[in-house]
Amino acid sequence: MCGIVAAVGSDDVLPILLDGLKRLEYRGYDSAGVALVEAPGRLRRAREVGKVAALERRLSTAPLKGLTGVAHTRWATHGQPSQDNAHPHVSGRIAVVHNGIIENHHALKRELIAEGYTFTSDTDTEVVAHLIERELHRHGDLLGAVDAAVARLEGAYALGVIDADRPGRVIGARHGSPLVVGIGEEGYYLGSDPLALLSVTDRFLYLEDGDLVEATRTGCVVHEWDERGGKRSPAVREPMRYEHDDPSVGKDEFAHYMLKEIYEQPVAVANALEGRLGSDQVLIEAFGPRAGQLLGDTRQIHLVACGTSYHAGLVARYWIEELAGIPCQVEVASEYRYRDVVAPPGTLLLTLSQSGETADTLAALRHARARQGQTYVGALSICNVPGSSLVRESDLSLMTHAGPEIGVASTKAFTTQLTALMLLALALRQLHGGDGELTARLVHRLRYLPTLLGDALKLDADIARLAQRFSGYRHTLFLGRGAQMPIAQEGALKLKEISYIHAEAYAAGELKHGPLALIDASMPVVALAPMDGLLDKLKSNLQEVRARGGRLLVFADPESGLEAADGMTVVNVPACCRFLAPLVYTLPLQLLAYHVAVARSTDVDQPRNLAKSVTVE
Ligand code: AGP
Repeated sequence: MCGIVAAVGSDDVLPILLDGLKRLEYRGYDSAGVALVEAPGRLRRAREVGKVAALERRLSTAPLKGLTGVAHTRWATHGQPSQDNAHPHVSGRIAVVHNGIIENHHALKRELIAEGYTFTSDTDTEVVAHLIERELHRHGDLLGAVDAAVARLEGAYALGVIDADRPGRVIGARHGSPLVVGIGEEGYYLGSDPLALLSVTDRFLYLEDGDLVEATRTGCVVHEWDERGGKRSPAVREPMRYEHDDPSVGKDEFAHYMLKEIYEQPVAVANALEGRLGSDQVLIEAFGPRAGQLLGDTRQIHLVACGTSYHAGLVARYWIEELAGIPCQVEVASEYRYRDVVAPPGTLLLTLSQSGETADTLAALRHARARQGQTYVGALSICNVPGSSLVRESDLSLMTHAGPEIGVASTKAFTTQLTALMLLALALRQLHGGDGELTARLVHRLRYLPTLLGDALKLDADIARLAQRFSGYRHTLFLGRGAQMPIAQEGALKLKEISYIHAEAYAAGELKHGPLALIDASMPVVALAPMDGLLDKLKSNLQEVRARGGRLLVFADPESGLEAADGMTVVNVPACCRFLAPLVYTLPLQLLAYHVAVARSTDVDQPRNLAKSVTVE
């Protein structure tokens, strides 16, 4: 998704802007650009299609220099990736970078064209540049002009704006798309993500929806919108320290961030468990002061998320219903937000998100919030990014402590979400009268989970070999039953997003109701076979595949009784209890997707068309 960096400093800010853009590359983008005020009245910009490296090459032959600037990585929504559509967009003396979508841009464009403005791009953003320019003539001041312009915008935006005639100042605005202010020694900065600014600061102000910020070299003032008073007033936003390591330290010995993050999972899961396990139960107080009451009052759960986070939610439904006896409904956020949801009294809204900035998930939270007094007991988020919008807008948050995830394909964020969800299921069990023996057994097993995940990673070399064979296929079917069904879905998602091989997941029992028609020697089938009450049923489903000449790759418990045979490859996964099997079986599927993608020479960390944090609808 698009990335913003803006800076006002005491020295040339171009290196800071370019470094910020490189740090935002992981979000996914297709073009990049920068604009600087080189001297009062002299605004210059450079834009390139493709990677930030292309922009850097151009700047090395035609350098820009200035103390005030804005920069952007664009992920195309309106208008194809091209130099004209790349940001910053300029109108007269101002330059604008924008994340989000301006929904009423057609109407605004007509209005501006009628007033004589000329458009040079197909973007929705260009209307923002012209609107601000128009308002600048009326107000004479950039802050007032941005304020008047954003009042006309419908949709979502984070903006960075500079004025060539008044350098030394950057204006930011936030409504529905994230924006932070970085507080540095040598200046003030804006970023759509704190990661963009870690080379200059680890102190941030997290702007709230409706905020405008005016940053200079020595300070910043945030102006919030007072709905009741219908005017702006200065607001206090407490600085927060960024707690994670700086991920730009690199990939270490790994070829890709994704592989590094796959290997980080034993430690990440250990971090997610840290301080949350007692000797034979989960420490609910470690979830936060209100957790006991909120979870105790919960009668059912609406679990809402997107993509990989949604798959984590589907696994959690099995755990929460079996371990705590609490009904749990799981739904993709883009549907939930537009549905007339029936939430009976005592409903907990549980949102899951790695980034905490996914537009659909945030909208679902707000949709539920609007009805909170009547039916919801509250909103709990499980999230990886402290200070994110989702965390700030929830009553309670359980952080996953995965550390920054750079690869677009989610790996450690998923397994740490599952870990947090298992802790939640056990906490609900404790509060809702489940017997303590199973709880104690699972708490004990959770302590060994990081070791178990380390053992699963030892399959890497075997899977890399199998992946060579796999990389030639065009379609794949993934099968699982029970809580492994969502893991099959996650395996299919991983494969398609980074290798571009079409992959579908089915509950194995559904095979005979349709997808069996697809099975032949050109359709490999990946199946998950842990030791659980459904193993025999799954074996029958696998026979249905073999009888039709299908090629099976089965990840199985060593005691499953499944053995390699003609058309069937079996990979033994470390033995584990059925409750933790979803976590353990995830790792071989991640490795499979990774090695297939490498064999197909795709861009593993930044797959085509995808963005890390989907901040638009
Ligand atoms: C997963 O590999 C994807 N990149 C994607 O499905 C992602 O999980 C989804 O966009 C949700 O993101 P979130 O967890 O940050 O809300």
